[in-house]
Amino acid sequence: MAEKQISTKHLLGIKDLTPEDIHLIFETADQFIEVINRPIKKVPSLRDTTIVNLFFENSTRTRISFELAEKRLSADVLNFSASASSVKKGETLLDTVNNILAMKVDMVVMRHPAPGAPHFLASKIDANIVNAGDGTHEHPTQALLDAFSIRRQLGAVEGKKVAIFGDILHSRVALSNIYCLKKLGAEVKVCGPPTLIPKHIQKLGVGVEHDVRKTLEWCDVANILRIQLERQDIKFFPSLREYNQFFGVTGKLVAEVGKPIVIMHPGPINRGVEITSDVADSPHSIILDQVENGVAVRMAVLYLLAARRN
Ligand code: CP
Repeated sequence: MAEKQISTKHLLGIKDLTPEDIHLIFETADQFIEVINRPIKKVPSLRDTTIVNLFFENSTRTRISFELAEKRLSADVLNFSASASSVKKGETLLDTVNNILAMKVDMVVMRHPAPGAPHFLASKIDANIVNAGDGTHEHPTQALLDAFSIRRQLGAVEGKKVAIFGDILHSRVALSNIYCLKKLGAEVKVCGPPTLIPKHIQKLGVGVEHDVRKTLEWCDVANILRIQLERQDIKFFPSLREYNQFFGVTGKLVAEVGKPIVIMHPGPINRGVEITSDVADSPHSIILDQVENGVAVRMAVLYLLAARRN
């Protein structure tokens, strides 16, 4: 396995990673892809390492993917769900984590609704912290697995045209993807209604488009994001039906554009809103490959961060 070291002790965001770190994660994940396709899928790399998965917000993919990655690496795994814990009795984040760390935990994987929560934790405790999504801020392992999936599908990320469609304003996946894709030399455009695109996003080096057809004609990869109704306390568009009509990626549009476009979605999908089923389930869709690749990418992240402790 990798002799080189990642430059950070924690994975708080893609913003903190160098392009070399990202390439190292991908090279390490390539080796773990091979491991998880063997009849015996486990390696002893993190034996005697204890990892807690702290989830203060709902998750299906990220939570299961991290747990599987940790088990494939032979770590001891603890799962914590805020809804079934003493957080409900008023215990603070820091008290919760310090109590868990008193039980000799080495690494913390955390999802939290507050942007910056993992950064706060990293400034207070000694364990490695992995951000599994902090509010509308970053979701670094999702961006890594997305870029890794593009690399596996198209051979490279550099020079590829990647369009991110949908609710950019509320999306931690969009911000982490933009940082990651730009660090790897891709061209990036965002496309959605003006109300769902942050005002100064061009400063991140991305193009802005509001026409789905034009954007599909431009891109090699379409990464279609979920409309995050739970984060929208005011109306950003009139109705879901109209959103689909004007901003949804539909089979009809993709067929009319008439070229192969790699279709991605981080999940969970609102079928019939941002994407129709004929696109999500088409032969050009790599949505389930993203999920499969996520386990190897998360194994790589945990393995490389653990090496920083030794
Ligand atoms: N992509 C993603 O973060 O999905 P979950 O919310 O189910 O973890």
